[in-house]
Amino acid sequence: MISPKITISRVEKSRLPQIDFNNLPFGKEFSDHMFVADYEDGAWKDFRIEPLAPLSIHPGNLAWHYGQSIFEGMKASKSKDGVAMLFRPEQHIIRLNASATRMCMPEFPADMFIEAINTLVDMEKDWIPPSEGSALYIRPLMIAMDEALGVRPSAKYKLIIMTLPVGPYYPKPVSLWAEETYIRAAQGGVGEAKTAGNYAASLYPAKLAIEKGYDQIMWLDAKEFKYIQEVGTMNIFFVIGDKIVTPKTTGTILKGITKDTAIQILKHNGYEVEQRLISIDEIVEAHGKGELKEVFGSGTAAVVAKVSKIGYRDQVMELGDNTEIGDLIKSTINGLRLGTATDHWNWTVPAKGPAVSV
Ligand code: PLP
Ligand code: COI
Repeated sequence: MISPKITISRVEKSRLPQIDFNNLPFGKEFSDHMFVADYEDGAWKDFRIEPLAPLSIHPGNLAWHYGQSIFEGMKASKSKDGVAMLFRPEQHIIRLNASATRMCMPEFPADMFIEAINTLVDMEKDWIPPSEGSALYIRPLMIAMDEALGVRPSAKYKLIIMTLPVGPYYPKPVSLWAEETYIRAAQGGVGEAKTAGNYAASLYPAKLAIEKGYDQIMWLDAKEFKYIQEVGTMNIFFVIGDKIVTPKTTGTILKGITKDTAIQILKHNGYEVEQRLISIDEIVEAHGKGELKEVFGSGTAAVVAKVSKIGYRDQVMELGDNTEIGDLIKSTINGLRLGTATDHWNWTVPAKGPAVSV
């Protein structure tokens, strides 16, 4: 792909030889380059790829004070033939722009986003870890850049895209605490946006859950603390008897792209998936009757993560070893990424390059 719009400056010496692909904790290692664009005078401009480096930011930056900060998470993998592949990239710019609208930030042009991802991933393709379950995680971030303390939308923004070689987000099954004091999102709030504040607000309740011996929170609805929403970093699925159910998105839950991927894979394999309200009481009852066969989370970072137990009030619901449905989704996604499974949906697309170097 020839991109006259993106200027490129490369690192003098890659840090890649220092990276151990067999030891990749999530989110710690960054690749050599980042894409950057600036929004000023009502337009995005200065599209560039440059060495990843700290930014110099004014202490009065509006994003720091009032939270105009949104992000995405996507992955690139290397196919068995050595080609860098993207997974459903267009879905991520659709969601980034939906988050932008909710947070009163400017949309980023979808074609430039796709071109930026293609060019950056092609440049960083040697950073894609080869082993199944590992990937090059792509983190687009948009932040306000005005230096002012009045509460109002910023007039200036930056879009940055970083890439990071990562291993599995959850190397082992996760335990969840069904939370009844704190909430993640209320109707009319920003729960559907992938915005920094949602994650900041989750940290203290998550710390309390960890002190109780759980890995993560399973959020309940903000009004009645009755209906299951999602997990801190994933959407959630339950296998009850012969039914697969997942909370329907009602405005408070992140519309997971992996959730949609999982539903389509399950449908393709002849399973029906119910998207509806699921009360915590229904889960307790199903567990009591021995009908709760499997629980798993879905997310870009997590892919599919088995849930080992759920704590709710004084109950501890142990979930056994069954991973049948979760494994079907996980092995299909990993197979699509490696190019060993047939892509009926055209979800995997090669990252094309090179762009014009300057
Ligand atoms: N819910 C939350 C709160 C998340 O942070 C994520 C991760 O992105 C998800 C759900 C799953 O979304 P996706 O599958 O698009 O990564
Ligand atoms: C993702 O799965 O991409 C996420 O954003 C989850 C988390 C790392 C915040």
